[in-house]
Amino acid sequence: MSVDDEFRRRIRSDVPHSARVWNAWLGGKDHYPVDRELAEAVSAAYPQMVDIARASRAFQIRAVRHLASAGVRQFLDVGTGLPVANSTHEVAQSIAPESRIVYVDNDPIVLAHAEALLTSASEGSTAYVEADLSDVDAVVDEAARTLDLSEPVAVLLLSTLGHLAPADGIDVVRRYLDRMPSGSYLVLCDTVKTPQTLAAQEAYASGDNPPYLVREPEEITGCAEGLELVEPGFVPIDRWRPEEDDAVPVDQCGLVARKP
Ligand SMILES: C[S@@+](CC[C@H](N)C(=O)[O-])C[C@H]1O[C@@H](n2cnc3c(N)ncnc32)[C@H](O)[C@@H]1O
Repeated sequence: MSVDDEFRRRIRSDVPHSARVWNAWLGGKDHYPVDRELAEAVSAAYPQMVDIARASRAFQIRAVRHLASAGVRQFLDVGTGLPVANSTHEVAQSIAPESRIVYVDNDPIVLAHAEALLTSASEGSTAYVEADLSDVDAVVDEAARTLDLSEPVAVLLLSTLGHLAPADGIDVVRRYLDRMPSGSYLVLCDTVKTPQTLAAQEAYASGDNPPYLVREPEEITGCAEGLELVEPGFVPIDRWRPEEDDAVPVDQCGLVARKP
């Protein structure tokens, strides 16, 4: 089997992929019927799902803009998803072209689209690591080919940690932050547990795809233990430094926190 055949075999069009289902909620074009069916089934059980996907991207843009304006020049975007407008490098490099960004995902479909993530400003750089986010040391060692780990790094985990059990999520985040120097940041958001989001979780897991587990608030804040929360703290993401027309209320909470 050639490398191309092996690659094509790994991109399954008969089972939903998280990155493609997310792309369907975001109104993108990079998904198959099986992804659309699941996206629609979850939206039917939980109509707020599309608002959550949009709010998550909007939070990402505001948080990256805030950190780039505060002087952060390195970003590790874990669970990147398919490229969309205003990807992390575009936002960071629009403020500081010398910014370096490393994207991490384990879905071959994201790798197939990675050129769109690697269009760096010439002063900075971008790289893509195909890996399981739980292999923290392997991810960070590879990222260190692009990032200088003696300088602060913002670690982003946005709408991604729910693919892990809550305790594993907390452990993984702490291991990422342990590898980062003082002055680094965590940017995190995830869906909180309500009767409605539990219905969405059940609808999402009803197909032949890995589950996405919604969280108790303390299962999200537990990831930031020992870090300093940036104002306004841990809040629904629509209330994290909102800008006009941005504030549809959602059951997704997030935080930006600094490693002392
Ligand atoms: C719901 S999407 C969120 C994408 C993006 N962070 C955003 O907010 O727009 C979750 C992403 O995490 C990736 N992912 C899920 N489990 C992963 C794992 N174990 N290792 C690396 N990436 C993973 C999926 O492939 C998908 O691209």
